[in-house]
This record gives sequence, structure tokens and C-alpha cells, in this order.
Amino acid sequence: MDEVLNLLASALWFILPAYIANAAPVVLGGGKSIDGGRQFIDGRRIFGAGKTVQGFVAGLAAGTFVGLLQGIAVGPLPDYLALGFLLALGALLGDLLGSFIKRRLGIKRGGAAPGLDQLSFVLVALLAASPLALPSWEIVLTIIIITPPIHLATNFGGYKLGLKRRPY
Ligand code: CTP
Ligand code: MG
Repeated sequence: MDEVLNLLASALWFILPAYIANAAPVVLGGGKSIDGGRQFIDGRRIFGAGKTVQGFVAGLAAGTFVGLLQGIAVGPLPDYLALGFLLALGALLGDLLGSFIKRRLGIKRGGAAPGLDQLSFVLVALLAASPLALPSWEIVLTIIIITPPIHLATNFGGYKLGLKRRPY
């Protein structure tokens, strides 16, 4: 039991900057889209109107800030700051990649893509952080297992609070 709780705590602690980077755009995003309204060769939007410059920048700043706080809390500060930045950048790029794939599959902005919606951000975040820090495989596996339910639960919360238009 203690081991499971330890694993959960380690997983959450490690991936927290990515979670915050993924969530912040829901509240802080808006305005000009990253693709500027442009279409891919298939005639569909590159990323879609749900991916904004402001959301990307806000997510990157928020995730990096979490890394800063973690560094202040337990240190070493430069390592946590860099890790927060990489996890946030990876999360936002992974989210963009997810939207790119969704558009190629013909799924409209805001449409559901089970699996992709919940995992693309966290997988690319782990990849981006890996040159600096790759947690044990048990922690990586825990992150992959807990992320979809946490993502669904927080999105549902955001919907209930009126922050999101859809409950997933
Ligand atoms: N958001 C943003 N900029 C980003 C990412 C997200 O402004 N780079 C905001 C948008 O308002 C978006 C909301 O956060 O609608 C929720 O994000 P997400 O669910 O990833 O986007 P969707 O609107 O569902 O679009 P998609 O179908 O492309 O996933
Ligand atoms: Mg969505």
C-alpha cells in the first residue's frame, strides 16, 4: 500500500508541470490561433482554432513556474526550472501534435479522440524531459495509467465550472 502511494506521489510530482501547462490554456488561452487560420494540404486546418498563441505561451509560462516552485521547495533550483520548462514545452507540443492528427482524421475542433486527447501531451512531455531526467519505468507507467482518468476528471470539473464547452 505504501509503495503504491509512493509511486502515485512520485508520478504526480514529476509530471505536475506538464499537467499545469496543459490546463492553463483552458483559462488563459484565446485570440489568434497558432496556424493563423491556415489549412494543410488536405484542405483542413493545420491545428484548428482551439490552439492559440496566447494559450501556448501561458501554458509554457505556467508549467515553467511550477518547476520554479518545485525547485524552491526541494531544489536544486536550476534542474527543476529546466525540467519544468521541458515538461511544459513537451506538453504543449504534444497537445498540438494531437490536434494535428485529429484534423488529419477529420475530427473537428473540440471533437473527441479517445486516447489521443488524454495521452499525446503527457507522452511528448516525457520525451522532451528525457534528456534531462527520465524517471524509473514504474513511475513512467504510473503516469501513463493515471493521466487519462485525471485528465477526464479535471476536464469535467472545468466544464461544470463553465470554463470548458465540453465535458471531456
Ligand atoms: N487552448 C488554447 N491554446 C492552446 C491549447 C488550448 O487556447 N495551445 C484552449 C482553447 O480554448 C481550447 C481549450 O484550451 O478550446 C481546450 O483545449 P483542447 O481540449 O486541447 O482543445 P480543443 O478545443 O478540444 O481542440 P482540439 O480538437 O484541437 O483538441
Ligand atoms: Mg478538447
